[in-house]
Amino acid sequence: MRISVVGTGYVGLVTGTCLAEVGHTVTCVDLDEKKVKMLKESRSPIYEPGLEPLIQLNLEHERLFFTTNLEESLKGADVAFVAVGTPEGEDGSADLSYVRAVAKSIGDKCSGNLLVIVKSTVPVGTCDVVDNIIQDTLKARGAKYRVTVGSNPEFLKEGAAVNDFLHPDRIVAGVTNEQDAELLRELYTVFVIDDPSKLFIVDRRSSELIKYGSNAMLATRISFMNELARLCEKVGADIDNVRRGMGSDARIGRKFLWAGPGYGGSCFPKDVAALVKTGDQFGVSLEILKSVTTANESQKKHAASKVVRHFHGNLKGKTIAIWGLAFKPGTDDVREAPAITIIETLLDAGATVIGHDPKGQDNFSREIGSKKGLTYVDNAYDAVKNADALVLVTEWPEYKRPNFEKIGMLMRGKIVFDLRNQWSFKNLKALGFHYECIGRPDEIMAQNLKL
Ligand SMILES: NC(=O)c1ccc[n+]([C@@H]2O[C@H](COP(=O)([O-])OP(=O)(O)OC[C@H]3O[C@@H](n4cnc5c(N)ncnc54)[C@H](O)[C@@H]3O)[C@@H](O)[C@H]2O)c1
Repeated sequence: MRISVVGTGYVGLVTGTCLAEVGHTVTCVDLDEKKVKMLKESRSPIYEPGLEPLIQLNLEHERLFFTTNLEESLKGADVAFVAVGTPEGEDGSADLSYVRAVAKSIGDKCSGNLLVIVKSTVPVGTCDVVDNIIQDTLKARGAKYRVTVGSNPEFLKEGAAVNDFLHPDRIVAGVTNEQDAELLRELYTVFVIDDPSKLFIVDRRSSELIKYGSNAMLATRISFMNELARLCEKVGADIDNVRRGMGSDARIGRKFLWAGPGYGGSCFPKDVAALVKTGDQFGVSLEILKSVTTANESQKKHAASKVVRHFHGNLKGKTIAIWGLAFKPGTDDVREAPAITIIETLLDAGATVIGHDPKGQDNFSREIGSKKGLTYVDNAYDAVKNADALVLVTEWPEYKRPNFEKIGMLMRGKIVFDLRNQWSFKNLKALGFHYECIGRPDEIMAQNLKL
């Protein structure tokens, strides 16, 4: 199949590359000339494990092409994916301006029959809007092509995106006719060869809502556990024991039950906000989801307040090392990362902050802008030199078992805040550290050691 992918970000680039990997001829198009230039040189503009070698291989085999010219990418294409951003608008709803612009351009530039697949996360009814824009544009230029629109939300996880795309839990597609359903089966069967029932072909609106429902459910689990963790801190219980006990109930399951400094990223915050907005627009107030957002904002502040409280509200003259700036390990994406709120809170309280992240440093400094008192280092141990406290914000593998003896010698104060519950209370206490984490008060951890 010949495929055009419009938008070469985290989703579009992985989609295009993986479709080329299974043998399709794919042209990825992006407005960003710098990105396209890098990609033509086999360099990935984003960090995603395993992606760059696949780009290189498929460029070499002439199955993958990059361009800034939409018309060129649509020539002879059977399918065009729309994978542009749908950021949060000012009122919380999804900003569909990029999606609308692409729909108009496809209507203007396509030169044959085409199935347009909306992969961007879009509110219910957006495929109808895209369809109308394309049909109106085709009509205005007197073109008689059969252009149809399908929904195919993406569920990949940054940090594991290539594997998720090649070996998905499920693929969801929404169509309006059997011909499009057949084309999608042809496109995707190869990825679900182990179990074809993983491919769900449904109506467009259900498909659009499956994506929001999934992200909103995951965000809800995180906020729910974060609130339970805060209760643990007050009543003297251990959230990790609570998590394990709850998760072993098959109806609940073990995943997405980790307490932490709140969720971030380019999806959960904006998708929860957009779903709330959709509910309001249709007269259905989504009360649970409204609280999920409030709880998440509060959790980021709660995490930062642990540090501020330890120093009695005044961090003047204190140096705080931050390990982890990306919103999660395995990615350089820092959009809505908890580290932003945490660092801003510490700077406001007068601290000097030294940040480290294996991949997210450049994006983070661009996102947060230049701030007095905030600098970055390339080596995790350099961040802790003469620091009064170390805060673990993102659980990158390289932070999981660091050399605490060395850290203790490098630091000015032996104080650590483990906002991902990764480190051992017992080991750190034995080395003379003050240790705080999320939802596990000291007295209960000490008591649990004896059990
Ligand atoms: N990032 C994720 O983990 C993830 C996962 C699932 C779904 N999604 C959804 O997928 C969509 C894309 O997300 P992303 O993270 O890949 O976004 P992104 O911001 O990384 O990439 C979007 C790209 O689209 C390009 N673009 C914008 N307008 C264009 C146009 N008219 N023509 C060509 N290119 C254009 C931009 O230059 C950019 O490179 C969003 O709706 C998002 O919610 C993202």
